[in-house]
Amino acid sequence: LVMGIDSSTQSVKALLVDGDDGTVVDQASAKHPDGTEVDPRAWTAALDTVTPGLLERAEAVAVGGQQHGMVALDADGEPVRDALLWNDTRSAGAARDLIEEHGGPQACAEAVGSVLVASFTVTKLRWLRDHEPEAAARVERVLLPHDYVSAHLAAPGTAPFTDRGDASGTGYYAAHEGRWRPDLAAAALGREVALPEVVDPGAVAGRTVAGQVLGAGTGDNMAAALGMDLRPGDVLVSIGTSGVASTVSRSAVVDGTGAVTGFADATGGYLPMATTMNAARILDLQAALLGVDHDELAELALSAPAGANGVTLLPYYGGERTPNRPDATGTWTGLRPSTTRADLARAAYEALLCSLADAVDLIGGAVPEQVGRILLVGGAARSAAVRALAPAVLGRPVEVPPSAEYVALGAARQAAWALSGAETPPAWPAPPTDLLEADPTPDVRARYTELRDRTSDWN
Ligand code: XUL
Repeated sequence: LVMGIDSSTQSVKALLVDGDDGTVVDQASAKHPDGTEVDPRAWTAALDTVTPGLLERAEAVAVGGQQHGMVALDADGEPVRDALLWNDTRSAGAARDLIEEHGGPQACAEAVGSVLVASFTVTKLRWLRDHEPEAAARVERVLLPHDYVSAHLAAPGTAPFTDRGDASGTGYYAAHEGRWRPDLAAAALGREVALPEVVDPGAVAGRTVAGQVLGAGTGDNMAAALGMDLRPGDVLVSIGTSGVASTVSRSAVVDGTGAVTGFADATGGYLPMATTMNAARILDLQAALLGVDHDELAELALSAPAGANGVTLLPYYGGERTPNRPDATGTWTGLRPSTTRADLARAAYEALLCSLADAVDLIGGAVPEQVGRILLVGGAARSAAVRALAPAVLGRPVEVPPSAEYVALGAARQAAWALSGAETPPAWPAPPTDLLEADPTPDVRARYTELRDRTSDWN
């Protein structure tokens, strides 16, 4: 048995899996405080509540974690402040400054694989230098969230480690060259810091206190791709706290427009990705505003016609990154005296799916492979309205695998790989998927696109 952990923005989930075929035998999860800045000790405290009864049955374990977060530690290994997470946009100005220091967006992408946005760790280091210099002066080491959680599982004395997938989201790792750029971390923070060792995909990174094999772990999106066994041409659309369209590629993608981030993956290849900052929360907020639960929201939405009787939502509530509008807010248009609660519910689902359709288009434009299968994962993929509307708005059939826990499954597959000592990850049988089809609704997308473009200079 092997164990995979998904340390996400809102919770920690652990899967105990049969290492031979990927069958899930047990699982547990716990919520922890979420938001955009969180004490990283909350993640490990939550982990400690889910591992008893599971971890001791595993021969190997690995962690998939929310990407990008800045876990800045002092000389004693204690956080100098709460971690600033991927969804925290306060460092948008720092991102602009650092891109300029690189010599522009293209030069930035060529140096570190991606054009920086506020999500990237390096922008948070610069923000810390500029706004909390006393905390900045105490930083000795910077880890990513999954590194911090892995270190908690590791036997005392284990040197901190990470993997190339998560490292490629820092802004101080050259993804195509496979090496840290400590000079860039130092230039951002104003002092040199220790960085974790980058462990090869599938290698043993260390041992737990009980002697079990520890895999390198990786970013949650890289773990999901490994869990889904993503192949070139497949586009994985994930609806979690963030919305993500990703695909795998053998060669590095360098997109100077910044639309697609050129991350490394967890197998030795690359994971070009387009990420939205508003996904499941669009539905959470809509349900709260209408005073209904998610099932009722879906029912309401499905009772309204496609196009929500002309109501359109641009769902950039928490600022956005695809497109890059860190200061944006949500925008509703088309409200009339006849507008119903059902129209509002419908518009929320359509907005979520239109923003994901934008992300899929960007991925399709960035890689040579033609978009083939679209695989839909994440908690919201279970929603009746998402399932009904996704093929209609995305304009093509969508496949939904049975489980939502692909991050933890991918981490478990990495653990099994490290345990096996093999060259490639274990071949686990692909789970059967539900094939969803519907007539495309091009008008819905056209109206959304018009609103997105018309508001492009609002904030
Ligand atoms: C990816 C990103 C998010 C987080 C969510 O670049 O910022 O998908 O990984 O946990």
